[in-house]
Amino acid sequence: MHIQFLNPDDRNQWQILWNGYLEFYKSELPDDITNLTWNRLHDPLEPMYAFGAYENGKLIGFAHVLLQRSTWAKNGYAYLEDLFVDPNIRGKGTGSELIKAVYDFADEKQLDRVYWATQADNPARRLYDKYANESGFVQYRRK
Ligand SMILES: CC(C)(COP(=O)(O)OP(=O)(O)OC[C@H]1O[C@@H](n2cnc3c(N)ncnc32)[C@H](O)[C@@H]1OP(=O)(O)O)[C@@H](O)C(=O)NCCC(=O)NCCS
Repeated sequence: MHIQFLNPDDRNQWQILWNGYLEFYKSELPDDITNLTWNRLHDPLEPMYAFGAYENGKLIGFAHVLLQRSTWAKNGYAYLEDLFVDPNIRGKGTGSELIKAVYDFADEKQLDRVYWATQADNPARRLYDKYANESGFVQYRRK
């Protein structure tokens, strides 16, 4: 298994995982939003990046990252918005490798923070606790 930037040719494989991710969150997105997101993830003018975990050429997971300015720091932050691994291949370190790849990417860019949010009861927190500290902040949303 290795991690690399998501290959723009792998839209079909990504779509299957993306559908699984939306299902995990019991969510649906209009196709035009999914298309927009896919295109932005591959647009060099957009501050959005996608990493893919590949096993024998097959896409088995992804991490999507957004770069942000900050009023509190010089180089800004990376927001890890989406993380997903094929349910059949979980527990083998793929999620860990994706997080580490995001950390390496952030270090290369000398970013000041990598952060993400998750639901309080997500079992993935056991994984996250190995790599980061829970901030104590509570997220509020208008919509
Ligand atoms: C979170 C996720 C990406 C982890 O991928 P992974 O390849 O299984 O991660 P790893 O193999 O590196 O780490 C597994 C660890 O994560 C924890 N974990 C994460 N999700 C888990 C789950 N659903 N059930 C049990 N443990 C889970 C365990 O502590 C496990 O550690 P262990 O093997 O020492 O028990 C994957 O479970 C997933 O896609 N979950 C659904 C989507 C999701 O929750 N995304 C994150 C949204 S914030």
